[in-house]
Amino acid sequence: MARAFAPGKCILFGEHAVVYGYPAVAVAIDAGVEVSISESSEWTIEGTEFEPSRHPHITHIIRDVFGYNGTPLDIDIKSGLFSAAGLGSSAAISNAMGAALQFHLKPDEVLDRIGLARMGHSAEAIAQKGRASPTDTATSALGGCVVVSGDLVDGTEHVFDATLETPEGERSWSISKTTIPEDLDAWIVLGFTGVGSPTGRMVAGVANLLESDPSKESDMEAIGNITNAGLAALSAGNLEAVGIAMSACHERLKSLQVSSPELEHLIAAVGPHSLGAKMTGAGGGGCMVALTRDPRRVAEAIEIAGGKPLISRLGAEGARIIRKT
Ligand code: PMV
Repeated sequence: MARAFAPGKCILFGEHAVVYGYPAVAVAIDAGVEVSISESSEWTIEGTEFEPSRHPHITHIIRDVFGYNGTPLDIDIKSGLFSAAGLGSSAAISNAMGAALQFHLKPDEVLDRIGLARMGHSAEAIAQKGRASPTDTATSALGGCVVVSGDLVDGTEHVFDATLETPEGERSWSISKTTIPEDLDAWIVLGFTGVGSPTGRMVAGVANLLESDPSKESDMEAIGNITNAGLAALSAGNLEAVGIAMSACHERLKSLQVSSPELEHLIAAVGPHSLGAKMTGAGGGGCMVALTRDPRRVAEAIEIAGGKPLISRLGAEGARIIRKT
């Protein structure tokens, strides 16, 4: 059996704008997805027949990336992430599947995290009709704090570049990492609204809004500026400024019509106990995130308001193979 784990991610700044080349900052979170594969007499997933059309990410990795046509596989997925919630669960599934399959086929090879990020991105692009940034897959593959932008952002360490043919033309991103001070006295608390929201639909909604109301481009530019300020504050360990930037980013995302009443309810509930809070990921439901020095209290506030909380450090380890002990 081959097993691999890939973390989910939380976008601190820049979702949606990053699809158009503006910068985004994301951190890997403690929770993620574990995929186990073993040879079998027929293709199965979670104990039932594997239907490729129902699992586009996994099918892309098996067929297009690895060109695998060997013995059928039994695929088992254990997820600690809420799905369709803005935590990058599809990216984590792609990365964990890619890592497990690489280990199954070439057990002696070192895990190529950049290769993994690339294959996960191509799987996301297919599932999101060509409009997908490499943010989720790169953060899950590399771990830590990842910056994704049209141009390399000053003060970050370049890791790789990604290009994609989108319906709006070719897009390129520079993917880099930044170091967060180790002694940060702060956690992120994610709050799931319980409402799932497909990323592809939200991204298409923003594309339609920009086409019908070009003045919304100013929100994109503002998100870009807020992201740069938030990144500088994060690298300097200035938590108050990070929180202010998160809340400012949320106001712009609201203007892009990607928030929802459920997200607004949870964000309001954590206000008194947080340094800042915003929706995270595609929006329209999914999760919000708060930055706080008092994670238990924020988790309680989320629960009382009807959400499901998840506490995490900022910047967990990236995708990895789980070797037998
Ligand atoms: O909701 P998620 O985890 O799929 O994050 C989506 C982030 C977007 O910027 C909205 C889309 C993208 O491809 O970057």
